[in-house]
Amino acid sequence: MVNLSARAAAMEPFRVMQILGEAQLLEAGGTDVIHLEVGEPDFATPDAIIAAGQRALATGVTRYTAAHGTAALRAAISDDYRRLHGIEVDPERVIVTAGASAAILLALAAATDAGDGVLLPDPGYACNRQFVTTLGARPVLVPVAPESSFQPTAEQIDAAWTPGVRAVMLASPANPTGTLLPPSELAAIGKIVRDRGGVLIMDEIYGRLVFGREPDTALRLVSEAIIVNSFSKYYAMTGWRLGWMVVPDSWIEPVRRLAQNLFVAPSTVAQAAALAAFEPETEFLLQARVNELEDRRDFLLSALPELGFQVRARPEGAFYIYADSRALDPDSEALCARILRDAGVALTPGTDFSPISGRNHIRIAYTQPRERLEEAVARLRRVLMTK
Ligand SMILES: Cc1ncc(COP(=O)(O)O)c(C=O)c1O
Repeated sequence: MVNLSARAAAMEPFRVMQILGEAQLLEAGGTDVIHLEVGEPDFATPDAIIAAGQRALATGVTRYTAAHGTAALRAAISDDYRRLHGIEVDPERVIVTAGASAAILLALAAATDAGDGVLLPDPGYACNRQFVTTLGARPVLVPVAPESSFQPTAEQIDAAWTPGVRAVMLASPANPTGTLLPPSELAAIGKIVRDRGGVLIMDEIYGRLVFGREPDTALRLVSEAIIVNSFSKYYAMTGWRLGWMVVPDSWIEPVRRLAQNLFVAPSTVAQAAALAAFEPETEFLLQARVNELEDRRDFLLSALPELGFQVRARPEGAFYIYADSRALDPDSEALCARILRDAGVALTPGTDFSPISGRNHIRIAYTQPRERLEEAVARLRRVLMTK
């Protein structure tokens, strides 16, 4: 037996990946599975980005870059904040990372010491709890309710800020709920965190995927917030592993040192490719995709109640719906297993996102074309209505 750390032994599985594995087994046996489990857009990486990546490879752009990313990409990201939000972000404050995942790790490593508490909304992105634990810090779950759009209120953050808490990590739109943090609440939370001498980490990975409104950034209201972002979702570049952070001046050097040691550098080819992400034609294509996601959301919101799923807070972005499934089964893991087996539809049980209310919820990722969603609803109707 090779020794295994308590940390590794205690790490929870990311259940969505298990469901994916089971779905793939069914597919290998000839079942047609509709994948609504994985948080990955069905859209391809835009052609201009792929072409830029191919040009980089063909011209030998394959060596390490600076640990915090190329000057060209950091400048392009800074320009994007100006164009989109009218905010000046010094490119020096941009740290390019291996996806939002690396950005979260760097942000938490910079913000916490062993034993420090990190406030995390529940339900929330499953991996956050594991990142915090891996660093020896303590996840402090803040249960969030549909009445506040599954986002914490300033009052809740204030009450949860017990001794030893150092940071709070939020996302807007959030995973698994797709809900937004209202600007007034964000500003109030920013003030509480400032008064406590803590760190606000805002995950804006879904920030461009919002419906019927302009994208926003927490930097507008909380200039010292640590921003986490990524090319994975809006730019459909999950497999390229590229993201970024925006950090305050005082964090530039320490986070660069952390990045140098933990990652050496983000992917060179991905950085070269991502320069094409900001071209107007790419932007045009990506906006059309946001409209398509909105149409899919609307379709599902109208179809889910008659199937027995209750959506108690309206998702305004990302590509997720978090639905109360209690009326169908008190155990969402059993429900998802049954639906996968009997209907060939892969959904994620809420237990990935919430130790507190996860048994009562499922997450649907509408990362399939409208026709496939219609087919999924028809299959669910057959299976759930004839119990
Ligand atoms: C809220 C949230 N943050 C971070 C990530 C990780 O993204 P990346 O592919 O950029 O590492 C995800 C992926 O699903 C996510 O949903």
